[in-house]
Amino acid sequence: MVSLMKVEIKKVAVIGAGVMGHGIAQVFAMNGYEVNLLDISSEILNKAIEKIKWSLSKFVEKRRIKQGDADAALSRIKTMVEYEKAARDVDFIIEAVLENIKLKKEVFSKLDSIAPKHAILASNTSTLSITEMGRATRRPDMVVGMHWFNPPQLMQLIEVIKGDDTRDDVIDTTIKLSEKLGKTPILCKKDVRGFIVNRVLANVFNDAFWAYYRSETSKEGIDSSIKYTGGFPMGLFELADFVGLDILYEVGKSLYEAYGERVKPCSELVEPLIKERKLGQKAGVGFYDWTKGRPRLPLDLADEYDVNRSWAVSVNEAAWLIYEDVAEPKDIDTGMKLGTGWPSGPCEYADRKGLDYELNKLRELYRRYGMEMYKPCPLLEEYVKKGWVGRKAKRGFYSYG
Ligand SMILES: NC(=O)c1ccc[n+]([C@@H]2O[C@H](COP(=O)([O-])OP(=O)(O)OC[C@H]3O[C@@H](n4cnc5c(N)ncnc54)[C@H](O)[C@@H]3O)[C@@H](O)[C@H]2O)c1
Repeated sequence: MVSLMKVEIKKVAVIGAGVMGHGIAQVFAMNGYEVNLLDISSEILNKAIEKIKWSLSKFVEKRRIKQGDADAALSRIKTMVEYEKAARDVDFIIEAVLENIKLKKEVFSKLDSIAPKHAILASNTSTLSITEMGRATRRPDMVVGMHWFNPPQLMQLIEVIKGDDTRDDVIDTTIKLSEKLGKTPILCKKDVRGFIVNRVLANVFNDAFWAYYRSETSKEGIDSSIKYTGGFPMGLFELADFVGLDILYEVGKSLYEAYGERVKPCSELVEPLIKERKLGQKAGVGFYDWTKGRPRLPLDLADEYDVNRSWAVSVNEAAWLIYEDVAEPKDIDTGMKLGTGWPSGPCEYADRKGLDYELNKLRELYRRYGMEMYKPCPLLEEYVKKGWVGRKAKRGFYSYG
């Protein structure tokens, strides 16, 4: 077993130079690491370098770094198409190739055969199994999830995911590395689909999408309420368009496969849009028309939707994450605030509002719709039964005084 105690990470490889890979490479380079950036063609790599140059120039323009720092960062990135060259002498490798398990396993197996024994292999996957990728190598204990958020240059959050075989010191090293990059890591203790942030977010989307599909409320009403009354940075339909309906659909499908009825996506609503290639902002149209910029949300609809519903389903999913020992309340809260810009994390929110309130809201919704997503998690039931209803009881998801 290779001890990581004495290994200092100095040189890294980033595999895949697309939307995420080029940004990840830039963050490493800006923090003093030598970076081998690999993709399948020099055209793609040239485009990636152009994007990195543009982004660095923005950092200089905003006086966040000096021109000299930008030049130095750029000079630390070497582009290449040969795996042999990219992985041979590095201490840490992160892949950000397409979201396809077959491809990822091939990439991991190849990297494993070339990389030094001490090198950690990480994946930026949004949904796929870290364990499965690890088992495509002869070092499954050195394979870890390192899930960045888009755009990596600006987003503060990294989810670090423990695969079934991942060693604790590999987790520690990846957490410390994330901190050295100026990011805030949160730990996902189990290799579950959706990890932390996407799992909590999924049912918030599902609840709103089903309500709209049933014609209970308009999408503008939901978005306006979420934004102006809830204090969220964006409406949910706006956010869905921004992420891309195709991506949202795939994530929704994978969560449904993993958790069943508890995370039932409203495919009836999204599928027709995908068929018409109305994929959201990138296509110019999705739920909204983006050709004239960001949709205007009418203030007078800010009470049309009950935002407490969104909070209740997010609190419920947070409770499931704790119940299944996937994540700690602090990490869930940090994840939702930094990964999605929420005004509060679901656990701290529930502690303020009252876990008894959240439980009653869920029971009411479950009675009304009979959908599994509203069925309260046993942990929530147990906490309320014990009187752990939040701040007012000095104990909820957190302990007080
Ligand atoms: N886009 C996001 O918002 C986002 C956020 C978090 C995580 N992710 C995850 O990051 C990964 C990459 O996503 P993306 O949005 O950057 O995709 P992308 O399509 O922009 O980039 C993928 C890159 O991988 C390259 N590639 C394909 N096959 C390769 C191979 N065999 N070897 C090396 N490179 C290869 C492609 O040429 C492409 O440049 C996915 O796993 C995705 O789920 C994406």
